[in-house]
Amino acid sequence: MTNRKVARDLGHSDDDSAALAWCSSVNASYGTVLALDNASVEVHAGQALAVVGPSGSGKSTLLHCMIGLLVPDGGTVGFEGMTLSEEIDRRRSAIRLERMGVVFQFGELLPELTIRENVALPRWLIGDSKSAAASAADELLATFDLEQLGDRHPADVSGGERQRAAVARSLVHEPSVVFADEPTGSLDSANADNVIATLLKRTRANGQALLLVTHEARFAEQCDRIVTMRDGRIAEPAPNP
Ligand SMILES: Nc1ncnc2c1ncn2[C@@H]1O[C@H](COP(=O)(O)OP(=O)(O)O)[C@@H](O)[C@H]1O
Ligand SMILES: [Mg+2]
Repeated sequence: MTNRKVARDLGHSDDDSAALAWCSSVNASYGTVLALDNASVEVHAGQALAVVGPSGSGKSTLLHCMIGLLVPDGGTVGFEGMTLSEEIDRRRSAIRLERMGVVFQFGELLPELTIRENVALPRWLIGDSKSAAASAADELLATFDLEQLGDRHPADVSGGERQRAAVARSLVHEPSVVFADEPTGSLDSANADNVIATLLKRTRANGQALLLVTHEARFAEQCDRIVTMRDGRIAEPAPNP
């Protein structure tokens, strides 16, 4: 096996440029459950990395470490040249809000804000005016076929509509990396196709990186690289016959 192939199989890119987001030999536990066991991945500008694997294999925990929400027990996490795992809480939160787009697997939107305000929120937080943020939000709401729903609250739309709004929110402030945790789990296939196509098209066109956790092989295959998780580990590839 060549070094290039080994690198690719471990989830590292052939690209020599610095990764926008990475984690190296990360361990994370919940009590006695070892959720991440020596996991290393990286994502580069303009590239999409799919993370696949059975339920409970550690995909969400990996994403939570990479966005700095969870500090690993061991190993390091990096983002845009910073060692995120060494930053203090408040700084990690600021980096996440300003520089990352995140679609969480569960619990997406703020219930007291309208759908438009939820989508606009990352732009307010980086200092845009309310009207500039609202117009950026409206453009994305239209992309996801939500333009009629901007004035409603999350409780008054469907689960799939909330999920599409969460995807819109992850893109609105043009973050350098979008982390999306099963962003099509509540969607019909036409909306799921549109969400994945839009995530891939926008991030590639803007030189952003995308880390996509997905159960759908057809979506993983559209990414530039795929890593498979099993029992908290990045699985070794099956040996060639
Ligand atoms: N908050 C938590 N408390 C205790 N165990 C957890 C928690 N979150 C996840 N786990 C456990 O950690 C392991 C990895 O979970 P998770 O990262 O959510 O996997 P996936 O996203 O691949 O389904 C599983 O065994 C899960 O039960
Ligand atoms: Mg998960």
